[in-house]
Amino acid sequence: MILLAIETSCDETAVAVLKTRRGSTLSFDVLSHKIASQIDIHREFGGVFPNVAKREHAKMLPQLIAYALEEAGLLTERTNDKKLSLELKKKLASLLEREQETLQALTVIFEGIQKPKIGGIAVTAGPGLAPALWVGVNTATALSTVWNLPLYPINHMEGHIIVSLLRKVYSHYEVDEPKRPTVALLVSGGHTEFVRIAGKRGYTIIGSTRDDAVGEAFDKVARMLGLPYPGGPEIGRLAHIARKENRLPRKAFILPRPMLHSKDLHMSMSGLKTAVLHRIKDVGRELSDEEKSELALEFENAVTDVLIAKTRQAVYETNSTSLIVGGGVSANSHLRERLESLAKEENVTLYLPEKTLAGDNGIMIGATGLFHAKLKEKAAKKINVRSSWPLPEKN
Ligand code: KG4
Ligand code: ZN
Repeated sequence: MILLAIETSCDETAVAVLKTRRGSTLSFDVLSHKIASQIDIHREFGGVFPNVAKREHAKMLPQLIAYALEEAGLLTERTNDKKLSLELKKKLASLLEREQETLQALTVIFEGIQKPKIGGIAVTAGPGLAPALWVGVNTATALSTVWNLPLYPINHMEGHIIVSLLRKVYSHYEVDEPKRPTVALLVSGGHTEFVRIAGKRGYTIIGSTRDDAVGEAFDKVARMLGLPYPGGPEIGRLAHIARKENRLPRKAFILPRPMLHSKDLHMSMSGLKTAVLHRIKDVGRELSDEEKSELALEFENAVTDVLIAKTRQAVYETNSTSLIVGGGVSANSHLRERLESLAKEENVTLYLPEKTLAGDNGIMIGATGLFHAKLKEKAAKKINVRSSWPLPEKN
């Protein structure tokens, strides 16, 4: 099966085309993988504004789909000048009523190329920014209507879990099946949670942040330090400098480890962020580069200490022999090193995403779509956007 995957939940417009291989384990080749990042635009505003994100997705998505199909060798120009039927045109017009630009761009695609040889479309339906999600969902629905293809609504957080299970074998990927029960730590810009996974797809959230997500805290602290958006990689870079030089954070910069001893799997990041603000205010002037890197180091250490302690507890509580970690923050080198040590100490198999696939991308959505298709999940006719969408508890 060849699947086209679309992701527009936040600040990356991403498309992938995946082709399954024969065999009992789920494995696939990546025929195309494209990401148009909006980071430069959001950097100017210091964060992501939903309507700005929506506008950029609308501008980029149709052409990204055309590029991806071309790269996958699935784009054949029409030789006859068959126009869309009036009925289809009407359907498209009502579907994309509020997205005229996308409507025009897609009409050009539909009238210019033949139906590609794909078997379905997977699209992120949530959680995420509603206006941004709608661009992907409406576009996917338009493609599935005109090309008569099954549609798979994908939960973005399930995508972050599945992408961590990918194992590269030569040029293709296999989806590993960790022994159950297993537990996942998801750390992204909008989510920080522990998920117990039973059966094929039974997700139970057993702990989460009470306030800010870890990625959000990284981004906010970075802004306080005058670093550009997104802050996670910037904090990581500065912390790495201080660590490499064996510098310890000065005493005045020591930060709390919130809820470290709370005995549950919940977390809180907002107090930590406020503590950073106080440390900066106490200095009373612009921080030097050295001070910035020490504060970044202490912040990264504080977050990681809490995450590692809670993850250890989550492994105990769920009796897991494997641990899955996913989401944008799982690209953080220090967190990855500490997780590797934890996995050795506790004798659990650790599943981390490839660093380049930790952030949002189309492969994670496509792989999850293939996973659903393999489980014979029913395809959808119509998809609703769900800006907050807890992982399904269904087994
Ligand atoms: O999963 P993701 O790409 O988007 C959401 O689903 O939210 O996660 C984005 C978050 C941002 O907050 C970003 O600052 C953070 O992941 N992030 C990192 C690193 N790379 C990205 N945080 C810490 N260290 C990194 N290297
Ligand atoms: Zn994400």
